[in-house]
Amino acid sequence: MEIITEVKDGILRIQMNRPEKKNALTVAMYAEMATAFEQAERDSAIRVVLIHGCSDVFTSGNDLQDFMKNPPAGEESPVFKFLVAISTAAKPVIAAVNGPAVGIGVTMLLHCDLVYAAETTRFQLPFVNLALVPEAGSSLLLPNLIGYRRAAELLLLGEAFSAVKAHEYGLISEVTGDGEELAAAMATAKKLAGKPPAALRLTKMLMKKNGADLVARHMGEEAVHFVRQLQSPEAQEAFKAFQEKRPPDYSKFN
Ligand code: COA
Repeated sequence: MEIITEVKDGILRIQMNRPEKKNALTVAMYAEMATAFEQAERDSAIRVVLIHGCSDVFTSGNDLQDFMKNPPAGEESPVFKFLVAISTAAKPVIAAVNGPAVGIGVTMLLHCDLVYAAETTRFQLPFVNLALVPEAGSSLLLPNLIGYRRAAELLLLGEAFSAVKAHEYGLISEVTGDGEELAAAMATAKKLAGKPPAALRLTKMLMKKNGADLVARHMGEEAVHFVRQLQSPEAQEAFKAFQEKRPPDYSKFN
């Protein structure tokens, strides 16, 4: 199973589990995660959602082959449904992050309430390097959260950065020792699961309500550009280069 879910002690645990491909996310995996978040909304026994990866990776982001085969076409795409589900989740969402966290592996964290990352986590937002644009509302949320200058560094250069930097920038809640991130996230999830559920949901809603419509609109706008860029010749070159394990050559594009 590439997505494992379990409900225990009021916590819905969602595990990305495709280690042989570094948890690269396919259409089927997005669909399963979207369904899990929808279940969390409906099931009153679920108080908190916890998302995590495997022992050596959070996720390498969109599966680049699957992306070319099944490109997202709009709001009915599983990736979009997943992003809508995580960005509008009424209950607290916690992430435990380790290893590579790439692309949507970082942007989904902007919709989590608390994020614990192992000290050797390598974050990366390589959208521009793949001739794509940021998604998940990240081109709005990231500058708002960490400031334009820092967001520009992370999104325009698209280089990997450390957990210490992510913490310094305010992108994550806490850096843990390697192998301790899931236990830290779980301990917090247990604390939250014991709190009054309506007060938790209302507090989250009040913190997010001013930006909610703006984020939804912005995500829609990003999706239009993302889908267009995905079909562009420069993206074809980026994806072909990834498959052929060589550096891309953008010199002929303008
Ligand atoms: N899509 C599809 N396959 C992917 C993938 C992705 N996003 N990320 C990794 N894989 C595959 C590799 O092709 C490789 O498959 P193979 O064994 O059949 O050749 C396997 O997963 C292991 O990856 P590898 O690159 O050997 O692992 P690594 O530990 O050296 O590096 C990453 C891990 C995540 C840093 C590196 O795989 C990477 O940069 N991946 C691409 C990330 C990316 O651009 N994501 C899209 C964001 S929009």
